[in-house]
Amino acid sequence: MMQGGEQAVTERASDGSEYERAEAAAQFIFSRTKLRPKIALVLGSGLGPFADEFADATKIPYSEIPHFPQSTAIGHAGKLVIGNVDGIAVAGMQGRVHLYEGYSVKEVSFPIRVFARMGVKAVILTNAAGGIKFTQGRLVVISDHINLQGVNPLTGFNDERFGQRFPDMSCAYDKRFREMAVGQGNRLGIGIDEGVYAALAGPSYETPAEIRYLRTIGADLVGMSTVPEVIAARHSGMRVLGISCVTNAAAGILDQPLNHREVLETAARVKGDFVALLKAVFPRVAETIG
Ligand code: HPA
Repeated sequence: MMQGGEQAVTERASDGSEYERAEAAAQFIFSRTKLRPKIALVLGSGLGPFADEFADATKIPYSEIPHFPQSTAIGHAGKLVIGNVDGIAVAGMQGRVHLYEGYSVKEVSFPIRVFARMGVKAVILTNAAGGIKFTQGRLVVISDHINLQGVNPLTGFNDERFGQRFPDMSCAYDKRFREMAVGQGNRLGIGIDEGVYAALAGPSYETPAEIRYLRTIGADLVGMSTVPEVIAARHSGMRVLGISCVTNAAAGILDQPLNHREVLETAARVKGDFVALLKAVFPRVAETIG
């Protein structure tokens, strides 16, 4: 057993426990707004501007929220927007942080811990993804995931106030939410699919061999986010809906290199449909969580 192992698995004493840090952030957010959202929305690449449409909005830069990580990726504004969408209170993250920025998996999932402390019941996570089974521009409801990031936000000390040591992940993506999202997509005439999201750490895109491997193990989409947040959300009993925008064909599928500009351009092109879907899904998610 390594010397000092105990220290590695206990919390940093200086800022309090993760639970206390999340509580401090939640109380800070509550000091800025009277709204008490039960739904949180994480807006991935290019989708952030949707939160600018929220009514009665309070915008809080991540830099002002105690212990919140700062987002550095292009296309991620780094603001928490609390507001109303058609009369439903929502906490919207304009941008998230990723492992590839150098953040720890606990930092990546910290905002979800804060939502848990705020009493949020449902988390809607969006992202840009490479399509293994799906073509560019498709919106895909995540049915399940494969965690290939090599890390898990629940590693280390388990604070039972968040959740149990070994949480079940057999229904990580809420079945009812998935059916609703697919149903609304079809009603709106938006082509919509369901698929399995494989998460890698990035930031380099995958090699064609890695994409062939991912296809073989059952992945339909590939990305660099979302999974730590889903694990933290499920740990705390929040219900999860995940939706990917396929911004590009995964590596090696087409005879062309991948680049981030294409990802942002496709995300911008599909934004209208994505926002329409989110707006259609909100009232139904709100109704389900009561
Ligand atoms: N791979 C990984 N992450 C991504 C991709 C991709 O092809 N596109 C958008 N995010």
